[in-house]
Amino acid sequence: MAQNWTPGSWRQKPIQQVPEYPDAAALAATEATLATYPPLVFAGEARRLKKQLANVAEGNAFLLQGGDCAESFLEHGADNIRDFFRAFLQMAVVLTYGAQLPVVKVGRIAGQFAKPRSSNVEAQDGVTLPSYRGDIINGIEFNEASRIPNPERQLDAYRQSAATLNLLRAFAMGGYANLENVHQWMLGFIKDSPQADRYRKLADRISETMDFMKAIGISADNNPSLRETDFFTSHEALLLGYEEALTRVDSTSGDWYATSGHMLWIGDRTRQLNHAHVEYFRGIKNPIGLKCGPSLTPDNLIELIDALNPANEAGRLTLICRFGHDKVADSLPKLIRAVEKEGRKVVWSCDPMHGNTITLNHYKTRPFERILSEVESFFQIHRAEGTHPGGIHIEMTGKDVTECTGGARAVTADSLSDRYHTHCDPRLNADQALELAFLLSERMKSGRDEKRLAIANA
Ligand code: TRP
Ligand code: MN
Repeated sequence: MAQNWTPGSWRQKPIQQVPEYPDAAALAATEATLATYPPLVFAGEARRLKKQLANVAEGNAFLLQGGDCAESFLEHGADNIRDFFRAFLQMAVVLTYGAQLPVVKVGRIAGQFAKPRSSNVEAQDGVTLPSYRGDIINGIEFNEASRIPNPERQLDAYRQSAATLNLLRAFAMGGYANLENVHQWMLGFIKDSPQADRYRKLADRISETMDFMKAIGISADNNPSLRETDFFTSHEALLLGYEEALTRVDSTSGDWYATSGHMLWIGDRTRQLNHAHVEYFRGIKNPIGLKCGPSLTPDNLIELIDALNPANEAGRLTLICRFGHDKVADSLPKLIRAVEKEGRKVVWSCDPMHGNTITLNHYKTRPFERILSEVESFFQIHRAEGTHPGGIHIEMTGKDVTECTGGARAVTADSLSDRYHTHCDPRLNADQALELAFLLSERMKSGRDEKRLAIANA
């Protein structure tokens, strides 16, 4: 177990991005209440995810992580959850086929409520108020009362997470995730896509594979792995009081686990070595992520790996790289070389969203071409370095929103206002998300063909 660590030892450290609750006693009372509530996930599930991520670290699987930038209390409906899951599973099938590897499925969901902000205040029409920090902390409405941090919101976030997780578990295990369904949805997407011809070939090959399996007697009826899937949850563990209250000893191993979600990550703004967030994370046994932005130096990174994964356990640490399409070529290779030189086992994942945000017509947006360009560079760089491009981390929704520009059914700068619903950052809509999966899948397939050719010619 980590030395001199307790679930509350982060309280002795400097901390960034912490909300100022006006009523400390009310906050403490809420945290005490949360500490009596049941855990949302079981440690055995977190270990199962860690094993699957170890597989990714070793180059034998691919990680798909995605969901809302920020979940909201207002949009907590079954349709939203179902539509997200539907889009996400379609991406997973396409990527599984492209990579010819298992896809580890991790949602940014059922707990993604707290947001780091670049400024403590927000000004509108001459009025300055505290920034919105996510529904678990304060309200998005621009008035004084709503922006005051309210601890009661933590209980609402807990309950919403529990209900969301319950539905996701039911979908994942109860038949909704049946591969045959997912395949039919995907064919529906292709039929309506302007890029139909391009995707048809890949879709036809998946159809043939499914028909072949059926012909030899492998079907969802007699094979659970065709109708069930492992789906895990994750979020940025920013609000440490909430996380501490849900940190529990696993009775089967005696280890501490965060039970607010299967996987937690540290944001790019809160990854200072001797600060509170790194302190909290070093003591929990869950698989964890570390966001890596352009300001992270190779030496910094190795120190953080020493603190967060001293036993060099594969699957423990996922490096979620978010440099920007124009910075990835400069930033990523030196980090990869440092990690390789030190022999550290990590999962490399690409977050092509957060380094590619621009403002158009007063809307925060992300051009699809830049997102794609960062992912492509990520793949190329890993191929050149001989390392495994292990996964992607995206902000997406199952709805037909207009938040990121571009894509086959192009969202333009002028149409951003049509359906711009995000509580925080712009998300890929269902079509753009699936399109990204198809483009990646094509690239992974050509990578495999190249390798095969090289072996045949050797
Ligand atoms: N169980 C396998 C997996 O999760 C196959 C599978 C079943 C699947 N339903 C799925 C894959 C939906 C992707 C999407 O990989
Ligand atoms: Mn975001």
